[in-house]
Amino acid sequence: MNVYAVILAAGSGTRMKTGKCLPKVLHPMLGSPMIEFVVRAVSAIKPKKTVVVIGKDHQIIRESLKNWKNLEFAFQQKPLGTANALSASLGTLGDINGTVLVLNGDMPLVSAPTLKKFLSLHKKYGNSLSVASFIAKDPFAYGRILRGKDGKAVKIVESLDADKTELELKEVNSGLYAIEQSALKLIKKIKKNPKKGEYYITDLLELALKHGLRADAYTVGDESEFAGVNTLTELNSAQEILRQKAIASLIKKGVIFIDAGSTFVHPSAQIGSGTVIYPNVFIEGETSIGSGCKIYPNSRIVCSTIANNVVIKDCSIIEDSVIGESAQVGPFAHIRPGSLISSGAKIGNFVEIKNSVIGSGTKAMHLSYIGDAEVGSGVNIGAGTITCNYDGQKKHKTIIEDNVFIGSDSQLIAPVRVKMGAYVGAGSTITKDVPENSLALSRTRQENIPGWAGRRKTKGKGK
Ligand code: UD1
Ligand code: MG
Repeated sequence: MNVYAVILAAGSGTRMKTGKCLPKVLHPMLGSPMIEFVVRAVSAIKPKKTVVVIGKDHQIIRESLKNWKNLEFAFQQKPLGTANALSASLGTLGDINGTVLVLNGDMPLVSAPTLKKFLSLHKKYGNSLSVASFIAKDPFAYGRILRGKDGKAVKIVESLDADKTELELKEVNSGLYAIEQSALKLIKKIKKNPKKGEYYITDLLELALKHGLRADAYTVGDESEFAGVNTLTELNSAQEILRQKAIASLIKKGVIFIDAGSTFVHPSAQIGSGTVIYPNVFIEGETSIGSGCKIYPNSRIVCSTIANNVVIKDCSIIEDSVIGESAQVGPFAHIRPGSLISSGAKIGNFVEIKNSVIGSGTKAMHLSYIGDAEVGSGVNIGAGTITCNYDGQKKHKTIIEDNVFIGSDSQLIAPVRVKMGAYVGAGSTITKDVPENSLALSRTRQENIPGWAGRRKTKGKGK
């Protein structure tokens, strides 16, 4: 079955009340923009093409999805409703030979298996249009599904247009549709809704039936899959559902959460068995953590790969980095993007590492900044060492080869290389390469003046 997907994400999102700067679908959930969850579910069913409809002022949505290479973007000039948004995608969709799967961009809980199940029902019944519905505890602002005497769906009524009896209905439209060419053609015939001045995709059901096409609605999931997010309250509830699902599935795989209630884990995170996650830990984005690790409280790990038996001590941040087996990081360490901390390395208190490779068994235990550096294995970086990587215009590289000893409070003015087995004396400012196995010292020699203190005291009394 050829599937073409259209994700509608050009709405103005006024109900979020967060102002115009952040489009609704970019509001974050567990560290990812809401729309990414929809894109992930859709990508998993491998459509021939996926078009995301965005508002003309919302290039920022395209930017935030730049890692999803399979997407194309269409622009809706004005937010004139969901039918108008679908129309805006047609040019980019081009010639289609298959089913168009349309999804609201604000349904982040939807999953790939549910999309598949829905598509197979659509095919089984040979429909021109199928609508995915669910039973809502509180149908509130959802469109209600009206069914005829034979039980088949006949119409979707938006809550603003519904009468009292219709408002009582609990079966609602989820915002997921499967549409064949025959029904898609009718999109042009949809009339403006007089109350909201918008063109509603939901009118397509009644229109398709009027034109003698086969159409129906199917309850293929529940609220935990289909809840729409229009307000910050709904965003929080949806995030909580995702969070709990992710944690429950990890617990089943043997991950130990000391306080599951205060831990935030992205659904795509993978964690090995026997790993212990302490309270207030945030694991965001596509992160993988091995087995037997300990992640102590108040740490945040973003889009990173952590091998087995790693210890992340309290209050550490790890972003877009790789931590090797049995390494230790923290407390209060900051591992910034592009870093590799190799196996057995120890990165201690108040150490910041940026875009650097730290070799195996290397230690930087206290108060250091290592940026744009290549550090070999078995290196000792003394307290307060700084790689001075930025000259005000460009970043430069520091290379520290294997088994080097950098004394405390040293500055390495990049570009510079400290070769194998060399020592840098504490308090040095290194501006030139240091040859293998030598000692570099650049501090001024200490001078001791005998009796100076006593003379100073006597001088003071005489005044
Ligand atoms: C919509 C449905 C409603 C359904 C609910 C499920 C319509 C008219 N109503 O209501 O039946 O129960 O979803 O959550 O479709 N969008 C655009 N361009 C626009 C307007 C909206 O791209 O001009 C996008 C939005 O960004 C959003 C999606 O379409 O991702 C749905 O729009 P939204 O305003 O949230 O519709 P609801 O009122 O939730
Ligand atoms: Mg909505």
